[in-house]
Amino acid sequence: MSLNNSLRLGVLCSGRGSNLASIIEAIASGKLMAQVVVVIADKSEAKALQKATEVDIPAIAVNRKSYANREDFERELLKQLQEYNVDLVVLAGFMRILSPYFVRAYSGRIMNIHPALLPSFPGAHSHADALDYGVKVSGCTVHFVDEGTDSGPIILQAAVPVLESDTEESLAARILIEEHRIYPQAIDLYARGKLKVIGRRVLIEE
Ligand code: GRF
Repeated sequence: MSLNNSLRLGVLCSGRGSNLASIIEAIASGKLMAQVVVVIADKSEAKALQKATEVDIPAIAVNRKSYANREDFERELLKQLQEYNVDLVVLAGFMRILSPYFVRAYSGRIMNIHPALLPSFPGAHSHADALDYGVKVSGCTVHFVDEGTDSGPIILQAAVPVLESDTEESLAARILIEEHRIYPQAIDLYARGKLKVIGRRVLIEE
């Protein structure tokens, strides 16, 4: 498949953009047959926008603060994604819950990465929650987004040990290494048409 007709990714971010960088890198090294056609952040300060600009990917800030309500904000997000003919919406550290209105517009075509082994520790404080609970293993999950929070069908997971000496930061750093490995992999499986969703289960074809 040439780059011209490869899967068109729209990446939504809120912050640093290290998962975005890992996706860009996987594409550059030929491990992921896709193209990032637009990066959108919900705030202008998001470092991810800079990362996109550095490699000439259109980078757009859709500032949540500029919209009276979530629906108006999401309408603008959808407008941008549609303008760039995005095939798959990739949430990479996008710190907002998307409404059913948005999710239905890209039904089955939104992926997220979550830094815990779902269904354990959904939500925004997964590292602290895992440490507080005392689990010995945590990790990350790539999943399709449904209308709930971190509840959609699971595509790939990777586990890491939780050490007694761990802080939120050290655990997050260990998990992040795995995030950077499995997110591009999951997108590649999708791009190659290898994922089949049956109810809650995602089957991966050989
Ligand atoms: C990652 O840990 C991701 O799993 C979570 O937010 C973090 C984003 O990091 N949803 P980055 O912006 O990709 O560096």
